Amino acid sequence: MKKTAFVTGANKGIGFEIVKQLGEAGWKVLLGARSAELGETAVAELAAKGLDVEFIAIDMNDLKSIEQAADTINGNHSELKLLINNAGMPGAFSRSFTDTKEEDLRNAFEVNFFGTFRLNQRLFPLIKANEGTVVNVSTDMASLDHMQNAAFTLNAFDYNSSKTANNAMTLSMAYEVRDSGAQVFAVTPGFTTTDLNGNAVGGKSKEAAAAIIVGYATDGQRHNGEFLDEKGVFAW
Ligand SMILES: NC(=O)c1ccc[n+]([C@@H]2O[C@H](COP(=O)([O-])OP(=O)(O)OC[C@H]3O[C@@H](n4cnc5c(N)ncnc54)[C@H](OP(=O)(O)O)[C@@H]3O)[C@@H](O)[C@H]2O)c1
Repeated sequence: MKKTAFVTGANKGIGFEIVKQLGEAGWKVLLGARSAELGETAVAELAAKGLDVEFIAIDMNDLKSIEQAADTINGNHSELKLLINNAGMPGAFSRSFTDTKEEDLRNAFEVNFFGTFRLNQRLFPLIKANEGTVVNVSTDMASLDHMQNAAFTLNAFDYNSSKTANNAMTLSMAYEVRDSGAQVFAVTPGFTTTDLNGNAVGGKSKEAAAAIIVGYATDGQRHNGEFLDEKGVFAW
């Protein structure tokens, strides 16, 4: 039986490329998207290339939708071996602590942290039983070490702190599976030119960003509890 992966936020951007690269590597991939239209279009594009891809509706802002997606996977894809929590949003991408509005902070946490938490809790039993892998997609700016020491950074407190909380979740999950064959780790693709940042120039390509994540997810090595960037271990 083919190995099965689920990738959230995969109708475009880095997530779409992750699905493509996993499919090309022989995986069956469940392509998660909140818009049925965009999700089905993405699936059709990849299926036309001969890839084994199936659409799963999932809105990370909606508990019912997360429950339905998890029920479908637990019921129909109990062989799930890899979960890549890629869906993410920038909040208002606040420019400073002073400019950060509580509403924007809550919105960023709702998707990037609580949505991911809800999905992880519902699929973790399957991943543990299958000795599988969870990758939580993070960002350089989630790193407290980076925020303390970087000569320049984007001080987007809403987005950054929601991903820092996500990093804490990664370590909590990793601790739980430390003595098992399952693993949980975080990867930052680094600055990538996508819709998330208004397609800001100077970032790496979506293909290159996806290759970093797919690389660690499929290299056969144990990365449990690590935070990784393209060069290796990245400080929390
Ligand atoms: N781009 C960078 O420089 C960079 C750097 C570090 C980390 N990252 C991380 O990489 C991941 C992918 O981002 P990207 O750059 O590829 O951005 P993107 O092109 O904007 O893609 C984001 C994806 O997440 C989905 N999404 C957003 N809110 C959602 C929700 N409530 N429910 C379900 N899906 C939702 C989007 O769906 P819609 O199309 O429906 O909005 C889209 O599929 C994110 O976790 C991001 O934080 C990006």
